[in-house]
Amino acid sequence: MLPNFKIGVGTIAWGNQLIWDYGIAYDEQSLYEVFSRSLQNGIRFFSTSEAFTDGDSERILGRFAAKYPEQAFISTKYVPRPWRIRRSDFLRAMNASLARLQLRRLDLYQIGQPTGLMGIPMLVECAAEALDTGMVKNIGLSGFKANEIEQFSDLLNRLGGAVSCVETEYNLLNREIETNGVLKICQDLHIPIIAQCPLAMGLLTGKYLNEPIVNGLRRKIMQRYPANGLNGLIRLMNLIGSEHEGRNSAQVALNWLIQKKVIPIPGIKNVEQLDQNRTVTEWDLKPEEVTRLDDYSAGLAVGTE
Ligand SMILES: NC(=O)c1ccc[n+]([C@@H]2O[C@H](COP(=O)([O-])OP(=O)(O)OC[C@H]3O[C@@H](n4cnc5c(N)ncnc54)[C@H](OP(=O)(O)O)[C@@H]3O)[C@@H](O)[C@H]2O)c1
Repeated sequence: MLPNFKIGVGTIAWGNQLIWDYGIAYDEQSLYEVFSRSLQNGIRFFSTSEAFTDGDSERILGRFAAKYPEQAFISTKYVPRPWRIRRSDFLRAMNASLARLQLRRLDLYQIGQPTGLMGIPMLVECAAEALDTGMVKNIGLSGFKANEIEQFSDLLNRLGGAVSCVETEYNLLNREIETNGVLKICQDLHIPIIAQCPLAMGLLTGKYLNEPIVNGLRRKIMQRYPANGLNGLIRLMNLIGSEHEGRNSAQVALNWLIQKKVIPIPGIKNVEQLDQNRTVTEWDLKPEEVTRLDDYSAGLAVGTE
């Protein structure tokens, strides 16, 4: 079972120059400040993946965590690549992640959506073994469909384990999990949800209404979000935020997720962003404000058409 986290830190941008401008807009020192200040403020949950910049995100996180032994709660992900077909492939990937993270065991190991030859039954066996040997304290799922979550959870329960969480995209511009069955199955099975891209990769901060996203690759990836209506949504978020001691739209976006009982893991590059994002656990949107945001984003967000 996961500790009762309200928010965590996403690390996809840690070490990534290609999409996120690491080394230009922020560097290892600014990320170290984010890490240490997070811990000082009781934010212990960091989510990474072996796939983030070919393991560099894990390496950076590992260097930081080594300076604060046993203090951070670290999650990484196994990616079922097509050429990974044996249990030994799983073990090798897990050991490589542990080495990059400079850890002897993982607080949370999330299994990415099965592709290729290693199907759910074999992944469940691998997960159960990792739990049994104590190399992994919790198993999570990332990017799984609703029926896959149900199948994985059922099989793992039979082997004496349990799925501790599901990580999936959820934000005011992408509400697919509300209609594709993922939210419902997680609620039915009492599995906590961790929200990837809670700020729609930065769009919900509102800053990109006025300033262009310089990085062309990032701009392209962010085209998956609807542009029409974003202006009005940000205006509404700022209006609602102004009723809560002038909170900004990023803070409203994260609080909306907290009210939905999911755990946002915003990507954070510097302490200014951390200080804004971490304080969203200190106040609550009113139910009627959540409904206004729900209503405004309906028809605009992916998954609500
Ligand atoms: N992106 C994906 O496809 C994906 C896939 C798998 C897993 N995940 C997980 O989900 C986590 C979160 O998603 P994400 O990092 O892609 O996007 P996100 O959390 O929606 O947005 C993060 C970006 O928003 C900006 N930002 C954050 N807080 C801010 C604030 N208070 N004020 C202004 N700007 C702020 C920062 O970028 P700028 O300052 O450059 O705008 C930051 O990198 C990832 O780190 C990763 O762990 C993401």
